[in-house]
Amino acid sequence: MYKTAVITLSDRAAAGMYEDKSGMSIPELLGKDFEIVRYKVLPDEYDVLREELIWLCDDMMVDLILTTGGTGCSPRDITPEATVDIAEKNVPGIAEAMRAHSLSITPRAMLSRGVSVIRKRTLIINLPGSPKAVRENLECIIEALPHALELISGGKE
Ligand code: MTE
Repeated sequence: MYKTAVITLSDRAAAGMYEDKSGMSIPELLGKDFEIVRYKVLPDEYDVLREELIWLCDDMMVDLILTTGGTGCSPRDITPEATVDIAEKNVPGIAEAMRAHSLSITPRAMLSRGVSVIRKRTLIINLPGSPKAVRENLECIIEALPHALELISGGKE
């Protein structure tokens, strides 16, 4: 089982103005090999996300963090910046694969600035914010995830 955290970035969902359907859809999309050990809805605040990511990587030592939302181009979208700020390594291929796949579905995929990175033994992937985008992005990387997580944990050399 891969210890997984799901973090939704949305000012409105964090304020209780609507239900977070995106983050809640992730467990079913991931399937039985991923144990959700943390689920949190946060406002689009750089420092709040930064602290959460550091805690999840350094103290909780989760294998995988999936964020959803805050990857676009509006003034409050800071998910990629906060993620890059705490990253140790870039894993560009995951974000590239998601954007390439998504571009075959909608040209608006180019507006997601999501990144995929490693901090310590944790893989962090930014997904866009809608349930549809979450599904479309996850479906193209899910097959490669177990191998990626084995490598990152040092389990397979
Ligand atoms: N990717 C896929 N596969 N499907 C989508 O519907 N929506 C795009 C893009 N990526 C979309 C997608 C849109 S409209 C935006 S604005 C960006 O993701 C950023 O979304 P976010 O700000 O909610 O993270």
